[in-house]
Amino acid sequence: MSYTLHRGDALTVLKSLPDESVNAVITDPPYNSGGRTSSERTGRTARAKYVTSNSAHDLANFPGENRDQRSYRSWLTELLTEAYRASTEHAVAMVFTDWRQEPTTTDALQMAGWTWSGTLPWIKPASRPRKGGPKQDSEFIVWGVKGSLDHSRDLYLPGHYIASQPRKGRVHITQKPVEIMQQLVQVCPEGGTVLDPFTGSGSTGVAALREGRNFVGVELSPHYADVAEQRLHAELTKDDFDLAGPES
Ligand SMILES: C[S@@+](CC[C@H](N)C(=O)[O-])C[C@H]1O[C@@H](n2cnc3c(N)ncnc32)[C@H](O)[C@@H]1O
Repeated sequence: MSYTLHRGDALTVLKSLPDESVNAVITDPPYNSGGRTSSERTGRTARAKYVTSNSAHDLANFPGENRDQRSYRSWLTELLTEAYRASTEHAVAMVFTDWRQEPTTTDALQMAGWTWSGTLPWIKPASRPRKGGPKQDSEFIVWGVKGSLDHSRDLYLPGHYIASQPRKGRVHITQKPVEIMQQLVQVCPEGGTVLDPFTGSGSTGVAALREGRNFVGVELSPHYADVAEQRLHAELTKDDFDLAGPES
């Protein structure tokens, strides 16, 4: 298995990818959620949005969280259009989002050419109760396909996923659980290539390599690109280490 991690802007890099060079797109873009006013959009960082004030961790901020609704939709559409071009027939796209941005994300997916095929709940048991109303314990994975699903594959996946955000050893503010990503990457045929234009700390890539898929990622933040590089390298060389044992 192998991986390529591009350091830079997702849209710029995607434009340089050859046609039909990846077999699945699994990604977790900056949600750009909750920016109701201009000052909220420009004044609140990802940390301010997604990290509670009494949080135990002090993880780095990340860029790309200041778009309003309309520019988020056109930007995501352009991105998913390039991802569509770079994907093979039958490829599946899976895009993480939250309840606020779910309508925008499904619009962008369809405008980019993908056939929207469903929205999968990701339920996080370790989340806070809300006084006076329902607990906000879910995010969503909007998914679609280029053409039709490959019905020749003997593949059956769950329609919802349950796992809390990683706590121990957490390295990214919005890190996704690798155990969920390992199930999602099954949509890519074994030996194929998974694309994640918003790699973050590399959870999609780690899962892809672990499950016998290649990985192409893009990350704009130099800090998180370093984190992803370390995790991807460790995953790829883990078998060598297991076989050889620790150096004495
Ligand atoms: C929601 S996080 C992804 C977290 C990832 N799923 C994980 O488990 O670590 C989105 C990532 O996209 C990166 N990003 C923001 N704008 C970007 C852009 N224009 N091009 C590439 N990466 C970008 C951010 O730095 C951030 O790390």
